[in-house]
Amino acid sequence: MSEAGAPILETRGLHRSLGSGAARIHVLRGLDLRLEGGRTYAIVGPSGCGKSTLLYLLGLLDLPDDGEILLRGERVDNAPEQERTRIRGERIGFVFQFHFLLAEFSAAENLMLPMVRRGGLDPVAAMDKARELLGIVGLADKADRRGNQLSGGERQRVAVARALSNNPDLLLADEPTGNLDYHNSETLFRQLQQLAREQNRSILIVTHNRELAAACDVCLEMRDGQFEGAAVP
Ligand SMILES: Nc1ncnc2c1ncn2[C@@H]1O[C@H](COP(=O)(O)OP(=O)(O)O)[C@@H](O)[C@H]1O
Ligand SMILES: [Mg+2]
Repeated sequence: MSEAGAPILETRGLHRSLGSGAARIHVLRGLDLRLEGGRTYAIVGPSGCGKSTLLYLLGLLDLPDDGEILLRGERVDNAPEQERTRIRGERIGFVFQFHFLLAEFSAAENLMLPMVRRGGLDPVAAMDKARELLGIVGLADKADRRGNQLSGGERQRVAVARALSNNPDLLLADEPTGNLDYHNSETLFRQLQQLAREQNRSILIVTHNRELAAACDVCLEMRDGQFEGAAVP
């Protein structure tokens, strides 16, 4: 059961080590995180400090060695794999560093296919929803362009629209702007921020872009698997 008033996402004392034998690294060292609805969060930190590792855990794509992950007050890290897959599909949107669009399919089809595959929508309804989402990210006029006929920035927008297709409580983005400058993606970010506020969702963005980080409601600095200023557990 979800708790009323609980944050969208909470973690308690997350630990994760990766690699094997002597090469095993203690990547995440006791992370406590609390993401409220209606807010945008940035995580910044040097390469290798564990940002992507954390996002994989928050996206329920990997499991912590210790600690807890709660979605709306409900513990999810210890749920069976099938249940975690369902939760991820229904409540979490993920924008990866590389956008993984199907080059041979149109922008709209890249959104529509996963919606149909998840089983919720018939193809016609999914196509309508795909076009609506492409409108939100400013790509209404490019819906029928194939993935390989879109610019890097346009592919990024399609990836964001795709991540929104399940109306997620939590949108996770791992360096979504890549090498694009903030100026080009500011409008998109403002639209996401407005969406978060209007629909009480949380958005967490890993970024190297200081302007984007500053535009978020909260900026968390990460170093060696901990948030700066956090007490060593
Ligand atoms: N599958 C893996 N096996 C071993 N080490 C890994 C693996 N994935 C990441 N690492 C290591 O974990 C640390 C954190 O990686 P990552 O979370 O990708 O950092 P960031 O996203 O902040 O750049 C790095 O030292 C990286 O080399
Ligand atoms: Mg990374």
